[in-house]
Amino acid sequence: MNRKTRKFCFLLVISLVILVLFSLFAILTAKMKKNQGPPTLRIGVAMYSQEDTFIRSLVQNFEQMAQQRESQEGIRININLVDGKSSQLIQNEQIEHLITLDYDILCVNIVDRTAASTLIDQARQAEIPIIFFNRQPVMEDLMRWEYAYYVGAPAEQSGSLQGQIALDLWNDQRERIDINGDGVLQYVILEGEPGHQDTLIRTEKCIQLVTDAGVRAEKLISDTANWNREQAAAKMTSWWQEFGSQIEVVFANNDDMALGVLDVMQQLQVEPPYPVIIGVDATSEALEAVANGTMSGTVLNDGVGIAQTMLELSLSLYYQQDPAQKFTIENQSIWLPYRPITQKEIEQFLTQQENAAS
Ligand code: BGC
Ligand code: CA
Repeated sequence: MNRKTRKFCFLLVISLVILVLFSLFAILTAKMKKNQGPPTLRIGVAMYSQEDTFIRSLVQNFEQMAQQRESQEGIRININLVDGKSSQLIQNEQIEHLITLDYDILCVNIVDRTAASTLIDQARQAEIPIIFFNRQPVMEDLMRWEYAYYVGAPAEQSGSLQGQIALDLWNDQRERIDINGDGVLQYVILEGEPGHQDTLIRTEKCIQLVTDAGVRAEKLISDTANWNREQAAAKMTSWWQEFGSQIEVVFANNDDMALGVLDVMQQLQVEPPYPVIIGVDATSEALEAVANGTMSGTVLNDGVGIAQTMLELSLSLYYQQDPAQKFTIENQSIWLPYRPITQKEIEQFLTQQENAAS
């Protein structure tokens, strides 16, 4: 090797060493930057159906609250929303995918309440806490794992509160309600999805409260309209042809179906007062209807409270804190109370809602 070649080789080695050192430095600083950034909590949220008015607004609340919490906590909260399109098969695949992506927490609005055990076992294997909401898994399933929870509202209370609204009106405004004056309350029930805990229990309790108080009642007809406004309107159209103003009270398992009944009253140009119409949820449209007197009442299904609880529970689990310090947990479940809203309460309620939002 002559001197020139030796010098060239020397320079080549030196430049290679410098290059390697630079790359190492670049990789190290990138890693450090990543570790220095705020931690990210990743939550997968599986809805049974994005078409559902109540669920849509609950999940919107959840997203907004998470955004606020990000700045308060100095943390990033990354939410991945998936729509099960009312199919358990689709939802199972979505949840498997979220598990593969190693999300920190799963929030599941399960399509089929009886299908929770498989999901719980999968979450448990992957060690990802799973929070069910609004659609209540079977109790034995929920008890399979200490990191499986349910956040919801007690169905029984919602049914009884609907019954209480009807009973109060029966006692205070008998003339208006007992249209045929026979001393018997003639009613119909629009039911939610078959098999849903709120359908079964609201349907039973709303009228039980009335009859337990000694009022005689007669069911003219009842059927499912799957929580859906259009389906409820279709049912009511045919019931109105059959029974017309014999219908004194309409119990609807939710507000969307109650609004479907109102749609029919308006389409058929029925002269108010309409039959007593009582829903559940307190959606913004139903609150308007209660305020203008076309609906007699609704029951607040606390979607804000449910969303808030899911978020706080997710944070507790993420930080490995004991959620029992923040919440009363009974059989792995956290309950948010219902609340009746009639014309009497509406103004106070709307003011409270405005204050909470500002
Ligand atoms: C609500 C309904 C909703 C259903 C969905 C119920 O608690 O009252 O409006 O469609 O949950 O699961
Ligand atoms: Ca009557």
